[in-house]
Amino acid sequence: MKHYLGIIGFGGMGGWHRRYAMQSDVVELAGIYDIDPIRCDAAREAGIHAYGSLEELLSDERIDIVTIATPNEVHKEIAIKAMQAGKNVISEKPVTLCTEDLQEMIDASKKYGKVFSVHQNRRWDVDFLMTKKLYDSKEIGRLFTIESRIHGSRGIPGDWRGKKEHGGGMLYDWGIHLIDQALQVVSDSKVSEIFCRFDHLTNKEVDDGFRMDITFENGVRYLVEVGTYNFVSMPRFYILGEMGSAIIRDWQDKCEVVRCKEWYQSNVTPVVTAAGLTKTMAPRDELTTETYYNERPASDVHDYYRNFCKAVEGTEEQIVKHTEMMRVLKVIEAGFESVERNAPVKVDI
Ligand SMILES: NC(=O)c1ccc[n+]([C@@H]2O[C@H](COP(=O)([O-])OP(=O)(O)OC[C@H]3O[C@@H](n4cnc5c(N)ncnc54)[C@H](O)[C@@H]3O)[C@@H](O)[C@H]2O)c1
Repeated sequence: MKHYLGIIGFGGMGGWHRRYAMQSDVVELAGIYDIDPIRCDAAREAGIHAYGSLEELLSDERIDIVTIATPNEVHKEIAIKAMQAGKNVISEKPVTLCTEDLQEMIDASKKYGKVFSVHQNRRWDVDFLMTKKLYDSKEIGRLFTIESRIHGSRGIPGDWRGKKEHGGGMLYDWGIHLIDQALQVVSDSKVSEIFCRFDHLTNKEVDDGFRMDITFENGVRYLVEVGTYNFVSMPRFYILGEMGSAIIRDWQDKCEVVRCKEWYQSNVTPVVTAAGLTKTMAPRDELTTETYYNERPASDVHDYYRNFCKAVEGTEEQIVKHTEMMRVLKVIEAGFESVERNAPVKVDI
C-alpha cells in the first residue's frame, strides 16, 4: 500500500526527509509547505509541489502522513492541527519542548485515532547498536559505566538553534538523541538521578554543550556529553563492564573489546611515571586479557518510514513509542532543573 507524504518545513532536514522517505520505497511525496516563500520556490525549482499554505497541504485528501521538519517550538501546534485534519504525524526531534505539551499531542493522537511518532533516527546508528548488544549480551559482564560523547569544535550553529524561543540548545538538539539511546541501552531499569551542567562558550542564551550524568536504579552510571568547543575529540563510546572494557572510537568504527581472562597476575611489570613506579596502573597484556573487535551490525535507517507505514496500516507496532518519547522528555526536564539548581535531581523515570 502506497502512502502519500506531505513535508512541513523544507529546510535542511525537510530536504533530507524528501530523499530518505522516497528511498524507503513506501511513500510518495505529495508536496511540501514552508513558511518561507524562498524555500517553496526552491522546492518548485526542484520539481516538487509546494502548497500555498499549511491548511492547503492539510486539506489534500491524498496525504495520509505528514512529517514536521520545522524549528522545535512549532512542532506541537502543527502536529495537533495535522492530526485534527486526519493525518498521521512524524515529528522531527525533539518532539516538543516539555512533557505537558507532549501529553497534549498524545491525547490528540488518541482523540483523532492517528499514528504519531518522533523521528529518533539515531536508533539505527551502529555505534549505539553495538553498545546495546554489549549491554544485553553481558560478554564483558554487567556494564556499570557507559560514556556516550559527541564532540565538535564549531560552536552551536548560528540559526534558530542558538535561540531559546525556538527551543534551541544542544540538550534539545543532540541530547535528545543520546538520551533516547541511553534509555534504549539500559532498557531494564528506571532512571533514579540526573545531574546536568551546561556550557556557554559560544552562546549565552542556550547551552552550546552539556554534560549529563544519568544514574539508573540498577546502579548503571551513564554519561551523556555533547561539546561544540572540543578541538580534540574523546571516543564516541567508552564502556566498563565487570569482566572487561570496550571502546568505540568513532561513529563507524568497530567496537574494541578487552576481556579479562585472569584477574590475578603474579609478575606485573611496573609502569614508569615521573614520580616513580606503579604496578596498580600498569597496563595488562595478553596473558590475562584478550582483545577482539565486534563487527558493526547491519542497520538500515529507512526502516523508520517502513515501520511507520506499517503502524499506519495496523500491521506493526510503532518502533518509537509514546511512553519512550515521554521518558526522554522527562529526563530533559530533569536536566534543566538540575542546571537551574546546580545540583543532582532525584527522579523516578
Ligand atoms: N533527526 C535528525 O537527525 C535531525 C537532524 C537535523 C535537524 N533535525 C530537526 O529537524 C527540524 C528542522 O531542522 P533543520 O535543520 O531542517 O532546520 P532549518 O532551519 O534548516 O529548516 C527549518 C525550515 O522550517 C521552516 N519553518 C519555520 N517555521 C515554519 C512554520 N511554522 N511552518 C512551516 N515551515 C516553517 C523554515 O522556513 C525552514 O525552511 C528541527 O526540529 C531539528 O531538531 C533532526
